[in-house]
Amino acid sequence: MKNIAIFGATGSIGKSTIEYVKNFSDKFRIVGLTARTKIRELQKLSEIFKVPYIVVEKEEDAKNLKSSLSYRAEVLWGDEGLKELASLELVNTVVIGISGIKALIPTYYALKTGKRVAIANKECIISVGNLLKEVAKICQAELIPVDSEHSAFFQLLQKEKKEYIEKLILTASGGPFYKTPLKDFSKITPEKAIAHPTWKMGKKISVDSATLMNKGFEVLEAMVLFDIPLDKIEVVIHPQSLIHGIVKLIDGCYFMHLSPPDMKIAIAYALNYPERTRISIVNFDLAKVKKLIFEKPNFRKFPCLKLAYKVGKLGGFYPLILEAADEVVVEAFLSYKITFDKIPYFLEKTLNEFKIPSINLKNVYDALELHERVCEFTKNLIKRY
Ligand SMILES: NC(=O)c1ccc[n+]([C@@H]2O[C@H](COP(=O)([O-])OP(=O)(O)OC[C@H]3O[C@@H](n4cnc5c(N)ncnc54)[C@H](OP(=O)(O)O)[C@@H]3O)[C@@H](O)[C@H]2O)c1
Repeated sequence: MKNIAIFGATGSIGKSTIEYVKNFSDKFRIVGLTARTKIRELQKLSEIFKVPYIVVEKEEDAKNLKSSLSYRAEVLWGDEGLKELASLELVNTVVIGISGIKALIPTYYALKTGKRVAIANKECIISVGNLLKEVAKICQAELIPVDSEHSAFFQLLQKEKKEYIEKLILTASGGPFYKTPLKDFSKITPEKAIAHPTWKMGKKISVDSATLMNKGFEVLEAMVLFDIPLDKIEVVIHPQSLIHGIVKLIDGCYFMHLSPPDMKIAIAYALNYPERTRISIVNFDLAKVKKLIFEKPNFRKFPCLKLAYKVGKLGGFYPLILEAADEVVVEAFLSYKITFDKIPYFLEKTLNEFKIPSINLKNVYDALELHERVCEFTKNLIKRY
């Protein structure tokens, strides 16, 4: 039996995980759930599965939730709560569906205590992926990607030697504005930006998909996860979101991973690896696909993608700085403080002007502190604008 803790249970990844595991009660038991703001929804989920450990952000929410539950559960709160749940001996498998850098705390402690970590969150990997990989190695933990492209690569690379890889090719749907003229970008509203054509996701990742920052982050994520040099990672636009990853080998073979766009597939793979389970996918008929479309990405129209390659080349703290700035800039766009076309402007300005401290990151708390400093810096840039 796998005892699962789902971090970010009320989000898109969290809900897909629950939807998947609920059909396999002989294999999985949900022993921990977390959320930040959607406390009622968290309560409902906890009641259904009688979850023994629950974590919320605020102490007050924890106390209210504990007293309104119909059964006895440990209700923890804050960073300490995330750490405690991730470290519990009872938990052997963790799903990281929290958005943003806060996911670093449960990811780190789950790895440190030797667990399987099915990770959807890319912010942590971009910012301190090497540190996480090192902890996983030392503590004999497993870090398995859930991001669909990286799950595709993870699957495709199971049997191939690294020296045979010529290119990893990431597919991008292009988001909702791929065909929108650049001159209209300033008029794009948050409502339009979060309406992704093929995936149903949280607001932050939806905006990142619309700017192609998400694809840029995935380039950096692939570089860290698979230890592949940046010049061997390419992006193609594939609006159908059916092919999730392509591995080009030195002998001219292209291995592609095709599946319907449903995150449950990647989640199930990460939870069951190296085994697989049957998932019934409705309404998918390969014959109706007829043809697969691939196009070159437009770097001029989507400069965020270029920024990702730039920080990947610079290395050091630059990927973390880009990621932190993006959290602030996307939030500013979602709250109507800046327009869509200004997103890359503030990212680039942060990269150019933030003074990088001469420090070594010794642990995740150092990384979180640096992240916070970048966020403050970008917030001030936006305030002064
Ligand atoms: N959605 C996808 O298809 C997809 C695909 C690939 C990768 N990912 C990655 O997976 C992660 C989650 O994405 P999502 O689309 O599922 O996001 P989402 O729908 O916005 O859900 C985020 C979850 O994290 C919780 N949360 C947010 N900030 C938190 C904080 N500071 N502390 C504790 N909990 C917090 C939210 O709680 P409340 O709802 O209660 O506030 C919610 O449960 C992101 O890193 C994203 O890049 C997602």
